[in-house]
Amino acid sequence: MLLEGKSIVVTGGNSGIGKAIVLAMAAEGANVVVDYVAHEDATEQLIRQVEAAGGKAVGVEADISRSDDLHRMMQTAVDSFGRLDVLVNNAGIETRQSLLDTTEEDYEKVMAVNMKSAFFASQAAAKRFIEQGDGGLVLNISSVHEDWPMPGNIAYCVSKGGMRMLTRTAGVELGQHGIRMVNIAPGAVDTPINASTTSNEDLLGKLQDAIPLHRLAEASDIADVAVFLASGRASYMTATTVVVDGGIMQGSVGL
Ligand SMILES: NC(=O)c1ccc[n+]([C@@H]2O[C@H](COP(=O)([O-])OP(=O)(O)OC[C@H]3O[C@@H](n4cnc5c(N)ncnc54)[C@H](O)[C@@H]3O)[C@@H](O)[C@H]2O)c1
Repeated sequence: MLLEGKSIVVTGGNSGIGKAIVLAMAAEGANVVVDYVAHEDATEQLIRQVEAAGGKAVGVEADISRSDDLHRMMQTAVDSFGRLDVLVNNAGIETRQSLLDTTEEDYEKVMAVNMKSAFFASQAAAKRFIEQGDGGLVLNISSVHEDWPMPGNIAYCVSKGGMRMLTRTAGVELGQHGIRMVNIAPGAVDTPINASTTSNEDLLGKLQDAIPLHRLAEASDIADVAVFLASGRASYMTATTVVVDGGIMQGSVGL
C-alpha cells in the first residue's frame, strides 16, 4: 500500500473532495484524522466506512479559522496515531461576489477559512515535522483560480492566489528540512460547493461545454492525485502546483 501507517490530517474532511481524500488515503493504509465543523453524523458515518474497509480514522471538530482549534486538530493526530506525516489543507468556502459587492466581513471570512488557516496550519505542521526529524508533506487543495480569474468570486480567487504563493515560498523555505509543499488545483468538481451550478441544467451544460474532457471531475479524480502526491512516488515534487482540471484552463472558443 502506498501510504501504509502514515498519519494524515484532512481539514473539511467529511464532504466533497476532503471525504474522497480520506477514503482514498485510508484505503492505501493511512491513519486519518477527519476535521469537520458541521455534520457530526456525516463524520461518524465516514469513520465507520473507513473502519469497515479495514482502515483507521478519527474525527475532530475544529474550526480551522481559529488558531486554538488548529492546534487541537494537529494534537489529535499525535495523540491518536503517534505522529503527523501529511497535512491536507482542504477546507474552503466562497462568497460569489465581485469586488464592488464584497463586504469587509465576507472578505475576512473567506481569507480566514481559505488562507489564514492554510498558513498557520502549515506552520504548525512544519514545526511538528522538524521536531520529528524525518520530513513531511503539506498538501493544499487550492483551485485553478489560484491563477485564473473568476469574475464575481474575487475573494475566493485572492485567497487561492495567496495559497499559491504560500506553497511556493514555504516550499522553498522548508526544503532544507525535507518537508514538501504541493498544491492541487482542481477545475470544476461535482461537490456540494458547486450545487448551484450542477442543479441548473443550463449552467451545467455551459460548464461541460467549456471543459475539453466534457465532464466535471469526480471528487475521487482529485483524491487519486492526492494519494500519489502523498506517496514516495512524488518525493521530488515540492513548491509547485499540480493542475487537475480536465483541460479547462487551456479551453478555447472553437470557431
Ligand atoms: N468543487 C470544486 O469545483 C472545487 C474546485 C477547486 C477547488 N476546490 C476546493 O476544494 C476544497 C473542498 O471543497 P469541496 O468542493 O469538497 O466543497 P465542500 O463544500 O464539500 O467542502 C468544503 C469543506 O470545508 C469545510 N469547512 C468550511 N469552513 C470550515 C472551517 N471554518 N473549519 C473547518 N472546515 C470548514 C466544510 O464544512 C466542508 O466540509 C475547497 O478548498 C475548495 O475551494 C473545489
